[in-house]
Amino acid sequence: MSPDPTGAATTGEDGPVGSSMRPSATDGAAETPGGVGPSGDTAQSTADLVPAEEATRPVFGAARVERIGHVDPVLRARLLTIWTDVSNAGGWVGFVPPVVEAQVAPALEAALQRVHHGRDWLVVVRAWGDPEEPLADDGAASGWRDVAGFAFVAANDRLLSEHWRWVLRVQVHPDHQGSGLGAVLLDGLGDIAQDAGLEMLHLTVRGGEGLESFYARAGYHEVARIPGAIRVAPGDDRDQVVLVCRLDERGTERTS
Ligand SMILES: CC(C)(COP(=O)(O)OP(=O)(O)OC[C@H]1O[C@@H](n2cnc3c(N)ncnc32)[C@H](O)[C@@H]1OP(=O)(O)O)[C@@H](O)C(=O)NCCC(=O)NCCS
Repeated sequence: MSPDPTGAATTGEDGPVGSSMRPSATDGAAETPGGVGPSGDTAQSTADLVPAEEATRPVFGAARVERIGHVDPVLRARLLTIWTDVSNAGGWVGFVPPVVEAQVAPALEAALQRVHHGRDWLVVVRAWGDPEEPLADDGAASGWRDVAGFAFVAANDRLLSEHWRWVLRVQVHPDHQGSGLGAVLLDGLGDIAQDAGLEMLHLTVRGGEGLESFYARAGYHEVARIPGAIRVAPGDDRDQVVLVCRLDERGTERTS
């Protein structure tokens, strides 16, 4: 395992994937690389990341989850690459493959507009210590790698529902899936939301993909299912499953 860049206690080598999430630990965290750095209202969360023994993906030592207030061109390009590659790998993030970056770009722009206006949050996860990847251009001094995954946390436009938000477009680049980063992203996102005073996070998944178990570990449970609401292709209708995470009830899933 790589040295813990956060200076915080680490799990043992045999610890479960992403099990040691700590709430918004900014003290002692490595310096945020320039250019993709957080804005003043940015929250951070760090976690030790110990991949499952059978993981075939690169091994990371730790991961950090950050809320990004302003996205510069370098990060924008990285997000576009992730979203496009995840879509083409069959991930359910709003597109049916094949897609090219020019098709994804308008959706990214619209999402980033809401982030820059302060309506929505962009939350990213980056790893420390992947031996097979070059350091990010701006991460050479700190050892933090390029952003590997992200999600949006969308503001609820209803005045009576400001105690919860939607989680959208949860994704990890295919090169990094299966290393625990998705779980760390969800945990860190939940910590950031809880620190901001939110009580619940809601999201929807496409039924039949097995994603419910991934989300259940982070505390998201099914509350509704709309049969056939998603038409992937003619003759291929899927249920839309609504999941809810009560932020103050998380924990048992993450430690069991
Ligand atoms: C879903 C996703 C974000 C998970 O990220 P990840 O980094 O690959 O996940 P992790 O490595 O943290 O996996 C944590 C656990 O969830 C499981 N899991 C991950 N993706 C899963 C999936 N699609 N279906 C079922 N289980 C899954 C893993 O097997 C792992 O279990 P394990 O600890 O027993 O091995 C990522 O696979 C992805 O980007 N998928 C494509 C986009 C997508 O479909 N997003 C969901 C939108 S609702």
